[in-house]
Amino acid sequence: MKNKVFLTRTLHGFALKELKKRYQVEVHSGKIPIPQTKLRSKIKEADGLICFPYDKISKETIDLAKNLKVISTYSVGFDHIDVSYAKKKKIRVGYTPEVLTDATADLAFTLLLDVLRRVSEGDRIIRGGKWKVIYGAHDYVGVDLQGKTLGILGLGRIGKTLAKRAKAFDMKIIYHNRNRISKSKEKTLGTKYVSFEKLITQSDVISIHVPHTKETNHLFNMKVFRKMKKSAFLINTARGKIVNEKELAVALKKNIIAGAGLDVFEEEPMNPKNPLMKLQNVALAPHIGSSTKETRAKMAQITVKNLNLGMNGKKPIYSVGY
Ligand code: DGY
Repeated sequence: MKNKVFLTRTLHGFALKELKKRYQVEVHSGKIPIPQTKLRSKIKEADGLICFPYDKISKETIDLAKNLKVISTYSVGFDHIDVSYAKKKKIRVGYTPEVLTDATADLAFTLLLDVLRRVSEGDRIIRGGKWKVIYGAHDYVGVDLQGKTLGILGLGRIGKTLAKRAKAFDMKIIYHNRNRISKSKEKTLGTKYVSFEKLITQSDVISIHVPHTKETNHLFNMKVFRKMKKSAFLINTARGKIVNEKELAVALKKNIIAGAGLDVFEEEPMNPKNPLMKLQNVALAPHIGSSTKETRAKMAQITVKNLNLGMNGKKPIYSVGY
């Protein structure tokens, strides 16, 4: 009898083929995200689980699993999984960093360019039939990147890669991180370590690259927006809940800060009533940080490899917890 693997959503054909060689595979079809009731009933019998960043794998859900050896998430973020409880239950947890570093840093930089040069805003103006004036001294003017200060919160893989992109555009780069990187690495990257307070007050653009945890929940709120420069922009490709979205919408509307580029939201998909949708000084992307053909295929490969290792009682290539 083959071991059972349950996927909360389908993956690439090659990945499913690979899985089907070894396991009895079941893939959820229908409503996405999978309803918790179905997830809970499936996890009971599964030996392995492949999930996505919006699937909440709580302590209560893990407790239902009788045979579960491994949870393999198709994402770098794992804040949707109760990792410490999985560890307690000796369930392996695999995730997919590294392969999505470039794609995610590229998207952060794309949003940065977009909001500083008002590209999406211009697109909306044209499509809305509102392009009435051309080439005026003050029409649709953005701001230069060159010489501006980019503040990177979280100088991990993605943050460092973003720093390289920004350096090529002659931006000054400061960062704040739990741990300061070595002076030689700072020199190579052209970055300077600053306190969180300095990061928020000195940056012209802040880009968030930390995980969502109890400590980072709503870290960006009105108090912080008020300390930021009035001309500053906020870029978030990490997790929506790191930013208090309601307060951000107010800060953008009242020009407390200049603009924002967002790929992640407190609620995804975004509620059509979300006030951010009405604002011109924000560029929105539908959580596509890692969404390139090449990266998504690599993520599928790693997800399967992580699962296979966990099924064999081994540590996934990229592992958190146990
Ligand atoms: C992840 O993998 O966690 C990212 O949010 C996907 O873009």
